[in-house]
Amino acid sequence: MSTYTIDTATSRATPTPAPMRRLTIPALRARKHDGATAEPIVMLTAYTARQAQLLDPHCDVLLVGDSLGQVIYGLPSTIPVTLDMMAAHGAAVMRGSYHSAVIIDMPFGSYEASPAQAFESAARLLKESGAAGVKLEGGQAMAETIAFLGARGIPVCAHVGLTPQAVNALGGYGARGRDDAEAAKILADARAVADAGCFAIVVEGVMENLADAITAAVPCPVIGIGASAACDGQVLVTEDMIGMFERTPRFVKRYADAAGLVSAAAAAYAAEVRSRAFPGEEQVYRPKK
Ligand code: KIV
Repeated sequence: MSTYTIDTATSRATPTPAPMRRLTIPALRARKHDGATAEPIVMLTAYTARQAQLLDPHCDVLLVGDSLGQVIYGLPSTIPVTLDMMAAHGAAVMRGSYHSAVIIDMPFGSYEASPAQAFESAARLLKESGAAGVKLEGGQAMAETIAFLGARGIPVCAHVGLTPQAVNALGGYGARGRDDAEAAKILADARAVADAGCFAIVVEGVMENLADAITAAVPCPVIGIGASAACDGQVLVTEDMIGMFERTPRFVKRYADAAGLVSAAAAAYAAEVRSRAFPGEEQVYRPKK
């Protein structure tokens, strides 16, 4: 198990007392050495301060995923998500967390045009949120950008396999790497982003044997989602994991029935409002006798 030390000391570099020392990106990267990760990396998505507070004690990494477009904003895909949204939610997650490393997804259209565009967007996300790094989608095509950002102090987590921002090109969210040619391309993508210096790779929605091959092939941690138990860590969208949606992809395991809990609470509240049982004596202010 990871342990975290209370740190209330200040210095010029850390001018405000921090209740806990955050996991750093180099420490995260170092969790995999000689091809093995003794303690799998625990990553969940977080979009709000309160959600971050609840998840932070249990996670190594909180990912401010662009899945917030669908989960929070009800958008049809991640494509309309903006830098403004990511910066605002990234800052909220930083305010609600103390020891997890926080990384933020770069939204579609904010990084693909050139390494310089990517630097400008990533720098804005880090400045406005205080997060430690960014994640971007793409393999060989993004290698130059990952190296460019890394050389300028911006740690990058890559994302290969099923890349949701490419849904229009992929034609859907089905698992990738089913045929040998596509599997070889995804493995080459993973090698290219690792060679470019990314600190971790999210591998999403691929055949288990391909995820295993990628995990064995690259020196940095591989975080799986719909991939393999042999990956160096796992990530899920928190709302999927807590059961906020009735339908989820095959790779999701529901650890709670949050939708059922919220619906039942709303139904009980509505019934009590309609019957005037709420507010009761304990919820109203009366002059003291
Ligand atoms: O946006 C997101 O939540 C993600 C995870 C699914 C890895 O990229």
